[in-house]
Amino acid sequence: MNQQFLFDKVPALLHGGDYNPDQWLKYPEVLAKDVELLKNAHINTVSMGIFAWAALEPEEGKYTFDWLDERINPLYENGIYTVLATPSGARPAWLDEKYPSTLRVTADDQRRHHGVRHNHCMTSPEYREKVRQINTQLAKRYGSHPGVILWHVSNEYGGECYCPLCAQKFREFLKEKYKTIDALNDAWWSAFWSHTYTSFDQIEPPFKNGETSMAALRLDWRRFTSWNTQDFMKAEIAPLKEFAPNIPVTTNFHLTDSVIHYELAKDLDVVSWDSYPLWHSEPQLGHVAAVTAYQHSTMRNTKQDKPFMLMESAPGQVNWQPFNKIRRPGMHRLTSLQAVANGSDTVQYFQMRKCRGSYEQYHGAVIDHEGTGRTRIYKEITQLGEDLIKLQPVAGSTIQAKAALVMDMPNRWAVELISGLSEHKQLQETAQAHYEAFTKTGLDLDVIDSRADFSRYQLLILPMFYMVSDEVGKRIKQFVANGGTVIASYLLAYTNETLLAHLGGFPGAGLKEVFGIWNEEIDALYPADRNAIVTFDNKRYEVRDYCEVIHLQGADILATYESDYYKGQPAVTVNSYGKGQAIYVAARTEDAYLTDLYRTIAQSLELPVMDLPANVEKHVREDEENTYTFLLNFNDATVFVEEPAEGVDLLTSQKASGLVVLPPYGVACIRSKK
Ligand code: GLA
Ligand code: ZN
Repeated sequence: MNQQFLFDKVPALLHGGDYNPDQWLKYPEVLAKDVELLKNAHINTVSMGIFAWAALEPEEGKYTFDWLDERINPLYENGIYTVLATPSGARPAWLDEKYPSTLRVTADDQRRHHGVRHNHCMTSPEYREKVRQINTQLAKRYGSHPGVILWHVSNEYGGECYCPLCAQKFREFLKEKYKTIDALNDAWWSAFWSHTYTSFDQIEPPFKNGETSMAALRLDWRRFTSWNTQDFMKAEIAPLKEFAPNIPVTTNFHLTDSVIHYELAKDLDVVSWDSYPLWHSEPQLGHVAAVTAYQHSTMRNTKQDKPFMLMESAPGQVNWQPFNKIRRPGMHRLTSLQAVANGSDTVQYFQMRKCRGSYEQYHGAVIDHEGTGRTRIYKEITQLGEDLIKLQPVAGSTIQAKAALVMDMPNRWAVELISGLSEHKQLQETAQAHYEAFTKTGLDLDVIDSRADFSRYQLLILPMFYMVSDEVGKRIKQFVANGGTVIASYLLAYTNETLLAHLGGFPGAGLKEVFGIWNEEIDALYPADRNAIVTFDNKRYEVRDYCEVIHLQGADILATYESDYYKGQPAVTVNSYGKGQAIYVAARTEDAYLTDLYRTIAQSLELPVMDLPANVEKHVREDEENTYTFLLNFNDATVFVEEPAEGVDLLTSQKASGLVVLPPYGVACIRSKK
């Protein structure tokens, strides 16, 4: 078998991160120490130039690359590769001074002043031109440098701009989408409150003191913002592909809800993202771990069947929380290997050397202000570097989950935009609860966009899948007809893709037939209200927030409501459709119900279900010949896991068969022949 690495030149898991020598150019004696310190910590890659525009182009059109050459070259000679960034994430003062159109306008129509970062207008032709020029220079100079392995375009794309240029582009976007103003009026239900438009020119972005009542406009605005960000990103990538076609491209994603990551990923060669879990924020680490695993799964599945990159993580602590608790000894290793277990082929940090001043002065780094390798964090990083060398065989393998949870960014927006029902929509929390309940079985769960291929899965989970187009409805139908199992919760398929309610009863988009139910009304409870459901085998589970009153149209009952005017009516149902089945959970249940439900279903699908101890995670990566079973202990006590996978633990070189002993914060990675 030919092992597939992310970069042919680096047959290893990558270990490295952001390195900002541009801040240290007046400290040659400091820079002189870096190569050795990084090398000793088993760092094999650094990301440079992310915020270096002022150092790369100190005056308009005057480029200075020598300092960068002087870093890339010695690093390369010492086996450390460069991920080279384009600097558009923050602008030099001269640029904002000369081209104010690059500055973003806020939702209350205020042009921003120069300062901070991530605040450029994505439309501004002047900004796009300045970015094109610097990216062209970088591509020409470094496009064939043997030490440069990847472009890192910009930094954490996100946010929105309400400037006149963006407003005009929004109108063009809408014109392209709806063709006629009449079609737009129909799609947005604009007759309400007499909001009918007679020309595209009348449409404005949803300014805070403007049109905030029309959910469909706001949804399209968010779609536009994501599309425009992607359009900007494509413009950034174009000169890189033109002058440096052999270097792949990524951008570092983060958890913003202002872009559709799944869309942007189409223009990237590899997906990378920045993960900053709030470890130790709760007495038990298990929940934060599961939140992190969910996020890894989301990012991983924006590009399936390929490892992703953990582009940033904090060595020690961050600086942007109200309380920046440092990671306890052992946590660095556990959190880093959790990313690898979830499909990352890299462990990268923000940042290599702690800056001396300004905003991130106290953000964790590989090298502290103290400046040597004798700190606890540095030593833990060095040990992790050794672990990553042992885990080299894992590189290139992927997770092949049999179940997926569908989470579309536009559906997230749609649910947020519902006016009415409950103030606490909690889509994310609900999806997270389903994720945690399912993965307690020890099985992996993909988090996917509804446009992904469903046919590779046996089970699909649709939490609060509220906005469902006829097209997506059809694909769900087909999935079930072909033998798939689908589980949906309350709020299924209320609207189409422009937020018009499906007529003829919920769930719409052809799903009534699939689920064998009709959902007549939804009760939004007061926060303190509780009801319960009682299962056919007489178990009782509490429900809260949402209870739908549903009627059978062919489905069988799995549970009924315990009280209120819908007492005894169906609360959970199952319906056979084609070769598959569709389960509907009409109320927000306590987590225990989901845990029991998923265990039963996974068993019935003959998936290899396990009994994992509390706060222990399992993930399986695989390649053609082997599986790599990761067990991660998020307890500060030793645990024992009955693990059927047999083979060798790559981290200890010990034989593993049967009982695996995981020390506090311990990790095992068992390689088994398929
Ligand atoms: C983000 C940014 C980095 C840095 C870190 C700090 O992820 O991309 O530049 O600011 O946060 O945690
Ligand atoms: Zn703008």
